[in-house]
Amino acid sequence: PVLVVDFGAQYAQLIARRVREARIYSEVIAHDATLDEIKAKNPAALILSGGPASVYADDAPSIDDALFALGIPVFGICYGFQKMTAALGGTVENTGTSEFGRTTLTVGGDGGRLHRDLPETQPVWMSHNDSVKAAPEGFTVTASTPGAPVAAFECVAKQMAGVQYHPEVLHSPHGQEVLTRFLYDVAGLKPTWTAANIAESLIADIRAQVGEDGLAICGLSGGVDSAVAGALVQRAIGDRLTCVFVDHGLLRAGEREQVQTDFVAATGARLVTVDAEDIFLGHLAGVSDPEEKRKIIGREFIRSFEGAVGEVVAGGAQGGSDQSAGAQQVDFLVQGTLYPDVVESGGGSGTANIKSHHNVGGLPEDLEFKLVEPLRLLFKDEVRAVGRELGLPEEIVSRQPFPGPGLAIRIVGEVTKDRLELLRKADLIAREELTSAGLDGQIWQCPVVLLADVRSVGVQGDGRTYGHPIVLRPVSSEDAMTADWTRLPYEVLEIISTRITNEVPDVNRVVLDVTSKPPGTIEWE
Ligand code: XMP
Repeated sequence: PVLVVDFGAQYAQLIARRVREARIYSEVIAHDATLDEIKAKNPAALILSGGPASVYADDAPSIDDALFALGIPVFGICYGFQKMTAALGGTVENTGTSEFGRTTLTVGGDGGRLHRDLPETQPVWMSHNDSVKAAPEGFTVTASTPGAPVAAFECVAKQMAGVQYHPEVLHSPHGQEVLTRFLYDVAGLKPTWTAANIAESLIADIRAQVGEDGLAICGLSGGVDSAVAGALVQRAIGDRLTCVFVDHGLLRAGEREQVQTDFVAATGARLVTVDAEDIFLGHLAGVSDPEEKRKIIGREFIRSFEGAVGEVVAGGAQGGSDQSAGAQQVDFLVQGTLYPDVVESGGGSGTANIKSHHNVGGLPEDLEFKLVEPLRLLFKDEVRAVGRELGLPEEIVSRQPFPGPGLAIRIVGEVTKDRLELLRKADLIAREELTSAGLDGQIWQCPVVLLADVRSVGVQGDGRTYGHPIVLRPVSSEDAMTADWTRLPYEVLEIISTRITNEVPDVNRVVLDVTSKPPGTIEWE
């Protein structure tokens, strides 16, 4: 892999993602990993990330300078750029000219391998106090900014290069190109990380983990991650996998069919559906507090899943082999954990243990499951690409994120069957219109919310109405941690508003949520 050495930057994960966008496999590793740990990973190149500190500070995060003598290509970014400068004999100083945010990069000479044929001046995104004063010997300086006379350098013979700015952020519009040129033109790497290769190697790994006769179970939520994880495991072990889908009655229009028909048709997976709508709605009756709703749904979900797992175990994943399958224990649980979760829980260094997931997905206490997490090294866009590779339908693969508690947390007020029905209609209209306007790529998700406890006066036909408002909450985001409200075209909003007020009974008003996150969350509850 290309190892991104994390100096405590908020960007290490993003760098790894950008490397993979160049179709080269990349992992994040902590800066305090030992030389041996790094060598054991057999890195194709090292990328030193940015970091908060000055390289000369006492507590500055460090790496073993011997790393630079291994003959491995190195790319330094921001703090990493200064780190490699200091390690290779150049100088770094606090020049008193900090740069934060957008600045202008001026490419000098022919631009070298990194900046050749790119615009002579280009915006880049910076965040630094110290600056490189003199490049190490043998390195050519290829660009500068007002606050950083040495803003980029490279030494093709050593296969090393670096930039003071952050090429990984979108505010550096040529950043991805520059990073890609390092990988291809300086480090000499080939783009081999493709969906087909990823799928093939994951399937082989699953086979190795589950063995010749292990049985596995996978909870499907209707979302992308569990669907792709399930599909991979199905490819690997066939009918030794049983998928469990809990229909809690809080899903959107068409989602149950997507799982029951489309997923099964595309994968041939064995599926057990638990019909639990009445149970969930029964427990939710009279409850309007958001946290209370979430608790009830979480608890009932665990119960339903447990029940289904119990049946599968008792039946020995019924229908497997004819002989002794009845007594066989299901000992693997498939989960759709993604790489960002792994990195955030400290797993990026390869040393942190995964949390024991005993009650994730609601496992009975007395059942010992081993986890199969085929997506734990993938980012969301890679998961989608693998899903397409496996032949999953586009409706599943490009589906927007949808919360586990479903429509229950999009009804402000008590959840009832009638209100769910109404919200489902409004949500379907919004989705249909956004899709037909070609806007799916621009929005991260668009919750549609029913303000069931609010009424306002309207006039429809010749009469006065006293109905509920529907809120549209379209947001743009890269990871749901922060979000901005999406500037949808007025014409599209108009069609959605007209259709919802015409077609959904009891709704006489449509409003648009124009709050970013923070301060608002994406969901209303
Ligand atoms: P918020 O509302 O916190 O949502 O800004 C961030 C993202 O998480 C989704 N979300 C959930 N997903 N279970 C989930 O699986 C939940 O309980 C849950 N609550 C929020 C939300 O849709 C958004 O993508």
